[in-house]
Amino acid sequence: MILSIESSCDDSSIALTRLEDCQLVFHKKISQELDHAKYGGVVPELAARLHAEALPKILEETTPYLQEVKAVAVTTEPGLSVTLVEGLVMAKALCIALDVPLLPINHLHGHIYSLFLEQPAVFPLGVLLVSGGHTQLLHVKAHGNITCLATTMDDSFGESFDKVSKMLGLGYPGGPVVEKMAKQGDAKRFNFTVPLLRTPKLAFSYSGLKNQVRLAIEELGEKRDEQDTCDVCASFQATATAHLLNKLERAFKAHPFECFAVVGGASANLYLRTHLEKLVEKYRMPPLMVAPLVYCSDNAAMIGRCGVEAYKRGEFVGLDDVRVNPKVA
Ligand code: KG4
Ligand code: ZN
Repeated sequence: MILSIESSCDDSSIALTRLEDCQLVFHKKISQELDHAKYGGVVPELAARLHAEALPKILEETTPYLQEVKAVAVTTEPGLSVTLVEGLVMAKALCIALDVPLLPINHLHGHIYSLFLEQPAVFPLGVLLVSGGHTQLLHVKAHGNITCLATTMDDSFGESFDKVSKMLGLGYPGGPVVEKMAKQGDAKRFNFTVPLLRTPKLAFSYSGLKNQVRLAIEELGEKRDEQDTCDVCASFQATATAHLLNKLERAFKAHPFECFAVVGGASANLYLRTHLEKLVEKYRMPPLMVAPLVYCSDNAAMIGRCGVEAYKRGEFVGLDDVRVNPKVA
């Protein structure tokens, strides 16, 4: 089997995936969300220290299976360099101890494979990747053969939820709490402008919307009550989603996909999922593909599933040649 490690941001996770049939034999994740919540976002040095504590604890639980491990897959890009290093150091040590090769895995490719846990991968497909670090429209033709059709010019979709949440004093991470508050809110109360609505350019932008939300919150001032907060969340979520849908519709008209999927931490948002399902149906594509809710956010199971493909293709790298890369390749 493949032993996989994920530590690109604030989740420490290890998985074991069987090579023959991609069955998940073991998966555990320790999230640091609560540790970072008091700072309103991820503190890289704290995250690195917490990975150094959590990863060995999880690894201990894999002891009964270690003799069956054929390769170690580890996220090496993109992410926070100080946290990626924690995973890579453990991966290298394991490779030496078990005498197995190393498979460096791109975290974004990992998110794509969250669609194919315990099942065969199906390509080609269009993928909307919405996470805390990224907002990308991808055409995935085959394993590793990916064209990025659109990306964000500033903040990412998930990050904009985190920032709005921070402005409203709702804590970190913002996605789940903003979605929850939005359910009780009136999405028409605030008339936020959909970003880049008139430009044909395939790109995303969330910083302007974030500033519109900031002004609305400032205007409400101290008299802002719970209902006002819910209305801000609902209006923001509707506009942020309308922006994605508008650009996707432009993309679908120019370039219909065989199949369409949404992945990444923010793909857990049910408001977004529902609207994407309708759009995909309108353009007569097969039903929207999604990952199981628990595997939308960062996890080592998706890294292991991607690792199985990488293993079959022999994408091994020498221990002296492997580096972490914080940026998107
Ligand atoms: O993929 P992920 O776990 O980490 C990165 O690779 O960035 O995504 C985390 C991001 C955070 O910004 C979080 O606020 C967002 O996903 N997120 C959501 C929801 N759940 C998580 N955004 C919107 N709605 C949600 N329900
Ligand atoms: Zn991620």
